[in-house]
Amino acid sequence: MTSITLRRPDDLHLHLRDGESMRSVLPYTAARFARALIMPNLHPPVLSTEQALAYRRRILDALPTGVPFEPLMTLYLTDRTDPAEVDRAKASGCIVGLKLYPAGATTHSDAGVTAIRKVDAVLSRMEEQDLVLEVHGEVTDPEVDVFEREARFIDQVLAPLAARFPRLRIVFEHITTRAAAQFVLGSRPGIAATLTPQHLLMNRNALFAGGIRPHHYCLPLLKSEADREALLGVVASGDPRFFLGTDSAPHARGAKEVACGCAGIFSAHAGIELYAEAFEAAGALGRLEAFASEHGADFYRLPRNTGRLTLVKAPWEVPRSCPFGAEELVPLRAGEHIGWRLQERQ
Ligand code: DOR
Ligand code: ZN
Repeated sequence: MTSITLRRPDDLHLHLRDGESMRSVLPYTAARFARALIMPNLHPPVLSTEQALAYRRRILDALPTGVPFEPLMTLYLTDRTDPAEVDRAKASGCIVGLKLYPAGATTHSDAGVTAIRKVDAVLSRMEEQDLVLEVHGEVTDPEVDVFEREARFIDQVLAPLAARFPRLRIVFEHITTRAAAQFVLGSRPGIAATLTPQHLLMNRNALFAGGIRPHHYCLPLLKSEADREALLGVVASGDPRFFLGTDSAPHARGAKEVACGCAGIFSAHAGIELYAEAFEAAGALGRLEAFASEHGADFYRLPRNTGRLTLVKAPWEVPRSCPFGAEELVPLRAGEHIGWRLQERQ
């Protein structure tokens, strides 16, 4: 196959940052995706409906002219989130969920939830209002091996939570393990997962290939080859509970190439092309459209997009860096090739 045309996709997990940094990265996503779910882990975080609507406005104002793109918003859940905020979020019409960051789990998560029982009243209101809970699924206990934190989270937090709130719709974000894929497969209706390109394309060896590789460091970490194969297997199966969320997470080069670097992989410059590579390698290119453009929209009860996007099989070299506000960032595959290319908007 030398080209593939898809219904225009949605990126249901994206970090855009703010200000000039956002202006630098937003065009990559808007050129590919009709909508994206914008993560709220700004500094300070997006806690209220009012803040989310203001952030959404800044995103719309930063769009290149004539490019249609809809930011879908989610609020940052904290120990102190008021259940009444859930009502306001629902009434806004632009906020589709709330994001659970266990405190300390990842970048800008210090304001996150310290104990899941502290947010029971909010979760109960979300269940009533039918807003989606998006979950960063890792325990934060420093005693737990970093490669085990997702699996541990399932048993300690996620499975009990899904049982306590049987109608709450939950997205297990950026799953990285066979255990997580199996949890979703075996769970009640209303539980889904997003998958990133890096976790479909790379295993943890990529963190140490020829030396330490900070641009392959994200959270949750890349996992074993067996985990990667399990993830590829579930997306290749076409199961509707699995859908696209790049988790593209830009950081300036200087924040990555240091003694204690930030977690996050920037992939928005090839946010659909990288998935095409993964699906092709799995012999499942025919399943890409549903994964990228249907399953997520259906789960969030949004209309499927009507536009189209074409990818052609024509390798291109990824730039070694991209502008990022006053700085620069290093994109995934910098200086290397990607097998699929985006055909300009038709
Ligand atoms: O690698 C990551 N980067 N994982 C996250 O959960 C957050 C993200 C970021 O905001 O940089
Ligand atoms: Zn993320």
